[in-house]
Amino acid sequence: MNTSKQVNAMIGLMLVVVIIFAANVFNEPNRAETAREHQIETFATRGAEIFVANCRSCHGLEGLGLEEGAIGPALNSSAYLILGEGNGYGVDETPAGVAEGIRTFLGDSIACGRKGTAMPVWSEHFGGSLSDQQIDYLVTLITEGRWDIVEEVAHEHDSHLDPVPTRDDILSDGSGVAITKENCGQYDGLTARPFRERDPFAGMSSGDGDGTAEPTATAEPGGGGPADAMVQGLPIADYFLVSCSACHGANRAGIPGVGLPLTPDVLTEPDEFYFDTIKDGRAGTVMPPWGSQGLTDDDINALVQWIKNVEP
Ligand code: HEC
Ligand code: HEC
Repeated sequence: MNTSKQVNAMIGLMLVVVIIFAANVFNEPNRAETAREHQIETFATRGAEIFVANCRSCHGLEGLGLEEGAIGPALNSSAYLILGEGNGYGVDETPAGVAEGIRTFLGDSIACGRKGTAMPVWSEHFGGSLSDQQIDYLVTLITEGRWDIVEEVAHEHDSHLDPVPTRDDILSDGSGVAITKENCGQYDGLTARPFRERDPFAGMSSGDGDGTAEPTATAEPGGGGPADAMVQGLPIADYFLVSCSACHGANRAGIPGVGLPLTPDVLTEPDEFYFDTIKDGRAGTVMPPWGSQGLTDDDINALVQWIKNVEP
């Protein structure tokens, strides 16, 4: 081989190296994206396994909650989606602050459970059975909305059981459900509301952009009717949402197997009957005695007048 041929071969080789290098550089974002997707898939799959084993009895086989006849709220909800750049919905990426707020809300609700409701404490730091990492997998499952994986995992899980459980076998009817008494959580039905009602497709204008959506009061206090009463410093409708809705339903329609409906059409007994039930609870059921939970007789009277006279 003469020198010029050698030089040509060298140049050719260098060109090949440069081309391979350039191709790699251009491909880098793609590979990072693929790795990220792979990680989400792995996390969501582990989350789905935990969901199928622990959560679907109350949140529904597809995570749709009350809509599926389950006793808990929907987790399969667009309200909890965190959308990335270039998502398939043609809307903006979820702002970092909002995304962080949603993760905190979900993670805290799972770790700490909800006081006064059937939602158990799950964090192993507080007597539950799940590690921080496992709770993180569940949060990824919910914020990525990978209910397709839940379906696959559930199918696999149930096919090994004999007999294969039916939907009714799996869904809890509330009987035998324990009410969480103490917890570490910072959320209740009222502070959960802005998260549950978030619409990620509405021009991203919900909330104030930093993820700490403030609850809004529904009732304007001060008018004087039963709907305007204040209980424990809250407008009565908000108090109900925090303390009563977990069992009686946010719209007071009742939750099958958990709590009775509390609407004017069904409350036909005298006021004292309901007053006594609220004050002393009802023995043998999960209805708590509110008189020993800090409600005054005035508070209880206000609640009786409200449930008996104000339509939801
Ligand atoms: C025994 C029934 C029960 C089980 C089991 C259960 N939950 Fe819940 N969960 C509830 C109820 C009821 C609420 C709503 C409490 C309230 O009204 O504030 C809730 C609320 C939540 C919330 C807050 C959402 C919102 O809209 O307020 C999240 C997140 C959640 N559960 C996740 C889970 C996960 C994950 C599991 C499994 C590890 C699980 N839950 C198991 C009953 C249950
Ligand atoms: C932990 C679940 C739970 C919570 C929280 C709860 N209730 Fe109840 N409540 C029940 C159950 C269960 C019954 C029905 C008992 C029975 O089967 O007779 C009931 C019954 C009642 C009744 C009687 C209804 C009737 O037709 O006999 C009233 C009134 C009532 N609750 C009001 C309230 C109010 C007001 C609050 C909030 C301050 C509240 N409840 C919170 C579970 C709950």
